[in-house]
Order: sequence, then C-alpha cells, then structure tokens
Amino acid sequence: MSTQHVPAPSASPLTHRRPAFDLFEGYALSSVLAGLEIGGLLGTLERDGLSEEMVLDRPPEAANLLGASLRYLVDRGVVRVGASGYSLTEYGREICADKGYLVWLVGGYGGPLSKLDKFVTGAARYGIDYTRNGEWVAGGAAMLGRADVVPYAVDLLKGINFTRMVDIGCGNARFLLLACQQFGASGVGVDLSPEACQLAEEAVDRAGMRERVQIVLGDAEDLDRIPGLDETDLVVTFFLLHEVLGKGREALVGYLRELSDRLPPGAHLLVAEVEPPDGGVSSRQWFTPEFAYVHAVMSQILYPAQQWSEALTDGGFEVAEVLRDGMPGGLIILGRKPAS
Ligand SMILES: C[S@@+](CC[C@H](N)C(=O)[O-])C[C@H]1O[C@@H](n2cnc3c(N)ncnc32)[C@H](O)[C@@H]1O
Repeated sequence: MSTQHVPAPSASPLTHRRPAFDLFEGYALSSVLAGLEIGGLLGTLERDGLSEEMVLDRPPEAANLLGASLRYLVDRGVVRVGASGYSLTEYGREICADKGYLVWLVGGYGGPLSKLDKFVTGAARYGIDYTRNGEWVAGGAAMLGRADVVPYAVDLLKGINFTRMVDIGCGNARFLLLACQQFGASGVGVDLSPEACQLAEEAVDRAGMRERVQIVLGDAEDLDRIPGLDETDLVVTFFLLHEVLGKGREALVGYLRELSDRLPPGAHLLVAEVEPPDGGVSSRQWFTPEFAYVHAVMSQILYPAQQWSEALTDGGFEVAEVLRDGMPGGLIILGRKPAS
C-alpha cells in the first residue's frame, strides 16, 4: 500500500500575507467580548474569573455556548484556563482596558452595520428602517470615557466655578452625576434616547441624587425643554454636537448661538468630540477612520479642532482651552460666553 503524500500548503501564513484573517479574528473577538460584557459576564471574568460551576449554572444551551465562548477566547490567548476556572491573560486585560470601544461599536452600531447592503443600495434608510441601539451607544461611550475623557474633563472643570450644570446628550448620566458630586453642583441631563434616560434615572437613584439631578427625555435641540438655562453656568456636550452638525454648519452655529443667548454671561461650555482621520496619511491610525465611517452611516461628519473652535466662536462662545484627551483623535474644548 502506498502512502499518500499530502502537499504542504503552497504558502504558509508566515510567508504569505492574508490580512482578511486578521479582520475575521477581530470581528469575532469583538463580538464575543462585547456580548459577554453586555450580558454582564466580562466584568466577573475580569474581577474574579469564571469557575466551571458558574459556567454551568444556567440553561444547558447557554452553558454550552458560554463554555464555547471561553474556549474560543483561550484559543485566541485572551483567557487562560486553570484549576479554579477561567481568567484573563495579560493580553485579555489589555483588551478589556478598552472594552468600552468594543461595546460602543458592536452593541451600539452592530445592528445598522449589519444592514449596510440595504443602505448602500437604497433598499433601506438609516434612522427610518434601522437605527443604532441607544442603550449601548450611551453605555459604550460612558465606559470608554471613564479613562479616556473624564479625567481630562475633570481637570478642566477644576479651573472654573459652577453651581448648576446641564449635560446635553447625557447618555447614562455618569459624567453629570460625577461632576455634580465632585463639585457640589446641581444638574439637568437631557437625552433623546428613552433607553439612555432610563439608565440615567436609575443611576440618579443609585447615587441618591434625586434632589439635585433631573433627567429630561427629549430633543436637546429644543432648548425650551431644558429647564433653568438662564441660571446654568456650565453646559456639557460630550459627543453630541456632531449630531447637530449633521444638519449642516449653519444649524450648528444657530444652535450654539441660541444656547449662548440663553445662558448667563460667563457661563462655560465643555465639548468633547473626535477629530476625523488625518486624510489617509497613515492607514494604521487607531479608531478615527471607523468612528468617522459609523457617523457617515448616520449622515454625520466630524470636524477637526480648528473648525470646532471657529463654530464655537461664531456661535457666541470664546474658546478658552483646546486639549487632546485619551481617545484616539479625542478633543476637549472649553468655551465661555463672554462676561459682558
Ligand atoms: C455617544 S452618546 C454620548 C453620551 C454621553 N454624553 C457620554 O459621553 O457618555 C451621545 C448621546 O447623545 C444623545 N443624543 C443624540 N442626539 C440628541 C439630541 N438631539 N438631543 C438629545 N440627546 C441626543 C444620544 O441618545 C446619546 O445618548
């Protein structure tokens, strides 16, 4: 009997680039990690690890899939398995430090991104037939902002005085609550998403801040809906103004102008945004090409720092500070309505 010779692959992964498999892996890993986080399991894995008993303590199909998910993460070097169960590897910890970005993309925008075929052919329209998931846009933004935005914003706030703040597009209100607690202010959070407002209300209750913090469900472009603007000395808008810019620069400047007209002299405006990619100079830049693309799906564009500064100035605010935060392309701008 002759032995059959199995030919070696004509090109090994070491000599032949097949970059589609990097994308394949990234897509699957992002989906699994975001799914575990949204399902409330990634935090436990990070903190305490997951024992075999914890994996089995659910309906059989769920236990099987959770086991398969963890074994997949072991195959990819994200998780290790030991005598006490599953725990994160160093690589896994590095990824989880930025898990908010995965949750924002997969949980927030996975739905519309899976319908691109329909959007590019005109068979469906974003915002009419399919839309993002408000809970996880807000949840992911809050998670990624914890390390990459909040400390920078808090540093800026230490340099100003305020007693009443409004957070426009407050999401789950994590920044509103933190700022009100840390600086002894009262506040109002406004958001268009009922899911985000629900989370915000729960967070207000958990923090015992019902007396000082109010959440308003509504379109922040309708400034009449925001109570007490004439007594508000700080307005915060994190990742909201590009939504207004989606209607054109004139709409943005008009909105800023109306806002500044209603605020008392000397009031501050704190803006967080993300700059667009740097024009293709480097295809290796992190995050900003994808961030810009996701916003293009929603017919929104991004501005670089200079254009934001000009829009704020045209809208009646002096630009006091512009700084880069920890997000790739992240930008924080502190504006101020002139004192007289
Ligand atoms: C990316 S999230 C950011 C949430 C929060 N500012 C943060 O940094 O964590 C943007 C938020 O703006 C809200 N939003 C978008 N357009 C809005 C509008 N016209 N009025 C009020 N909220 C709006 C969205 O529902 C979403 O919660």
